[in-house]
Amino acid sequence: MSDDQMPLRKIDHVKFFVGNARQSAYFYRNAYGFDVVAYAGLETKVKHEAGYVVQQGGITFILVSPLRANHPESSRLILHGDGVSDIALQVDDVRRAYNLAVERGAVGVVGPRVIEDKYGIYEYATIRAYGDTTHTFVNRDRYKAFAPGFDPIDPSRYDVKTYHDTGLLAIDHIVGNVEEGKMNEWVEFYKKVLGFEQLVSFDDTDISTEYSALMSKVVQSGRGRIKFPINEPAVGRRKSQIEEYIDFYGGAGVQHIAMATNDIIKTVRHLRDNDVSFLRVPKTYYENLRERVGNIKESIDDLAELGILVDRDDEGYMLQIFTKPVQDRPTLFFEIIQREGSKSFGKGNFKALFEAIEREQDIRGTL
Ligand code: FE2
Repeated sequence: MSDDQMPLRKIDHVKFFVGNARQSAYFYRNAYGFDVVAYAGLETKVKHEAGYVVQQGGITFILVSPLRANHPESSRLILHGDGVSDIALQVDDVRRAYNLAVERGAVGVVGPRVIEDKYGIYEYATIRAYGDTTHTFVNRDRYKAFAPGFDPIDPSRYDVKTYHDTGLLAIDHIVGNVEEGKMNEWVEFYKKVLGFEQLVSFDDTDISTEYSALMSKVVQSGRGRIKFPINEPAVGRRKSQIEEYIDFYGGAGVQHIAMATNDIIKTVRHLRDNDVSFLRVPKTYYENLRERVGNIKESIDDLAELGILVDRDDEGYMLQIFTKPVQDRPTLFFEIIQREGSKSFGKGNFKALFEAIEREQDIRGTL
């Protein structure tokens, strides 16, 4: 059961700390179809960093870059490269959520703050999560813009959309990679400190290829609106993809963000047209697909053409596809997912995916 002492509504936004927020905004707008809706920086009297808020459906990302070397977080870029620095969670009562979390063992980063400006009252507080990732508790019920420091963007700066949205609707789940032996610790953190409940679990006998393996457990809150699978590397003969991530990211961090669509074929076509590159599985994956997953409404030819994967459980099926890493380091990537009843994370596809990832790792020389 979710802890009703700590009611978390949903993921408010995900913050990315990046080397060049202006160029990242271009990428999320023109490749992924997000709208650029708010900006913070010198022009809005923010002196130390620039930020762009991009939005599509119910998904909000903030892209932030330091403006000078003495920014308190600028070393993050040397250590991690571009990546997710914060997953913000919407709560009814920021002070209460923060105090309760800290009482239960969370490490506080920023104590409860109430900021009042021309847009209203904005409340937040931040705690540490895995690696250098943080969770910010946010309440914006009495705030009319995105956040203090941000001004709604002048539509003339980002005028008529050329690319239109790609049909991305919501964040389905956000996966964290943690160090070997740390998965249970972090699962306990989410359960005990933040009142999450644990969902399914599968072990390395389920998810492994000959060489690399991982273990994964899923915690959820907000009646399923917040789902965080936590991965750790399992011992293999070659380098696990999770180890590769930790090696290049310089520690634990967000591995992928899954974004939901209700028409994955249309979404993936659109994203491909915009130059988003996806992991490919071999054509043989589709040969016995109908026998493996039964009746689905999508055409297998379309799925095979685009490289979309299918998995089925007792409750229905799901379709998913993974992008290649979205920065030079083989770290963060995205998943596009369409759920048709199934609440799974695509366990049945892990083998095919691992093999696809290992082909990429082999090319990178990091197996
Ligand atoms: Fe996923």
